[in-house]
Amino acid sequence: MRVTVIGTGYVGLVTGACLAYLGHRVTCVDADERKVGALKNGQVPIYEPGLEELLKLAGEQGGLDFTTDVAMPVAESDVIFIAVGTPSQPSGEPDLKYLEAAAHSIGRAMDGWKKRVVVNKSTVPVGSGNLVEMLVREGSLSRATQAAHSIRFGVVSNPEFLQEGSAIHNSLYPDRIVVGSEDPETVQLMEELYRPIIDQSFRAPAFLPRPEGLRGVPFVATTLTSAEMIKYAANAFLAMKISFVNEMANICERVGADVTELAKGIGLDARIGPKFLNSGIGWGGSCFGKDLQALSHTAAEYGYRALLLEATQEVNACQRQVVIQKLQEKLFVLKGRTIGLLGLAFKPETDDLRDAPSLTIAARLLQIGARVKAYDPVAMTACRQQNPDLKIQYVRSMKELAEDADALVLVTEWDEFRKADLAALAAPMAHRVLIDGRNIFDPAAALRAGFDYTSVGRERAPQPAWQGLKAAV
Ligand SMILES: NC(=O)c1ccc[n+]([C@@H]2O[C@H](COP(=O)([O-])OP(=O)(O)OC[C@H]3O[C@@H](n4cnc5c(N)ncnc54)[C@H](O)[C@@H]3O)[C@@H](O)[C@H]2O)c1
Repeated sequence: MRVTVIGTGYVGLVTGACLAYLGHRVTCVDADERKVGALKNGQVPIYEPGLEELLKLAGEQGGLDFTTDVAMPVAESDVIFIAVGTPSQPSGEPDLKYLEAAAHSIGRAMDGWKKRVVVNKSTVPVGSGNLVEMLVREGSLSRATQAAHSIRFGVVSNPEFLQEGSAIHNSLYPDRIVVGSEDPETVQLMEELYRPIIDQSFRAPAFLPRPEGLRGVPFVATTLTSAEMIKYAANAFLAMKISFVNEMANICERVGADVTELAKGIGLDARIGPKFLNSGIGWGGSCFGKDLQALSHTAAEYGYRALLLEATQEVNACQRQVVIQKLQEKLFVLKGRTIGLLGLAFKPETDDLRDAPSLTIAARLLQIGARVKAYDPVAMTACRQQNPDLKIQYVRSMKELAEDADALVLVTEWDEFRKADLAALAAPMAHRVLIDGRNIFDPAAALRAGFDYTSVGRERAPQPAWQGLKAAV
């Protein structure tokens, strides 16, 4: 099919690359000229494992191009995806200005010679499908009246469930595809578009083999409103699961239990499941916070206070402060201390810093009067560019981070950190305090390496905090 994807961010670029790889003829449109210029030159503006290879494969097949001009590809396309950002406003409501602009531009470019599908892939509040339909029609009214009246299109909600860091895998081998529309013909077209994924009939890329036993993917056809709700509910549930286990971690710390044992014990219950039960300093990223706020806001519009959603966010906000408390317990005074952050990205395998816990933690430490150093394998350039006011000292290696640091805080669980030689890391530090914000290190190994080690919700280390300090002094 002929496909246009508007917005080449994490979602749009991955969607475009995957659809082109499956054999569709895809044009990716972005308003950002620099981004389009880079993509045309074969440069990938975001860090996402496998994306460069997939874009190369799709490009070689001749099925993928990039432009800033929306009119031409839309006029030729059967399916037009909207994958623009929907960031939060201070009120918690998502800002729909990019979505509105995209929908208008589609309307302006559409003519009436064939029926098309406009697909909302951005995460948008309930009712936005109707808004998109209205805006596309409005946009088309700026054209000759004749053309405006004759345009034929259906609007579909097709929420995206990819996770940054494994986005290609999630897109080619998803748990399900959800399509919401009131128009059966439109749903059928979407089923056709996704047929290779639904049947798993495409040739798997060599760098990303098909998971063993995967024969097909459920296609969930539902109403527009239900599809929009499914996306919010999925993210709310996942965020709640993490906030729940973090609340358990905080209780475990007080009663002397181990939250990793707890997670194992409850995760073996098939009704609960083992995933998303890692305790630590909480969730971040562009979606959970924004989507929880948006859903709470929608509920409020209908006179309902979503208490569980509010608590999920509150627990997460408090969890970021746990690091500061633990540092104060270990070092007492943080003013004038040097704290090294291991990781900045909101999770491993991405350079995305949106709502990253590292930023909250760094800002608080700087406010208290500490010096903050940081090392991240990929997100340092982005962090420096996006947060010029955050006076972080960026260093080139873990070793440089540890030199003269009073404490290290593991913020992002990159593989490079998991494999670190802990003794070598501890050696050049001024005080050997290690706060493991993701519970990735073995406490016994960290103690053996000479660290005064603390993690989240695991039994307190046998060595009292003051002993670690004395040894280091
Ligand atoms: N990032 C994720 O992990 C993820 C996962 C699931 C869903 N989502 C949702 O998908 C949507 C997109 O998220 P993202 O992370 O890809 O955003 P992003 O900010 O990375 O990318 C959005 C892109 O859209 C472009 N854009 C904005 N307005 C435009 C217009 N009128 N015409 C052309 N291009 C335009 C921007 O220049 C930008 O490149 C959001 O609603 C988000 O909530 C994101």
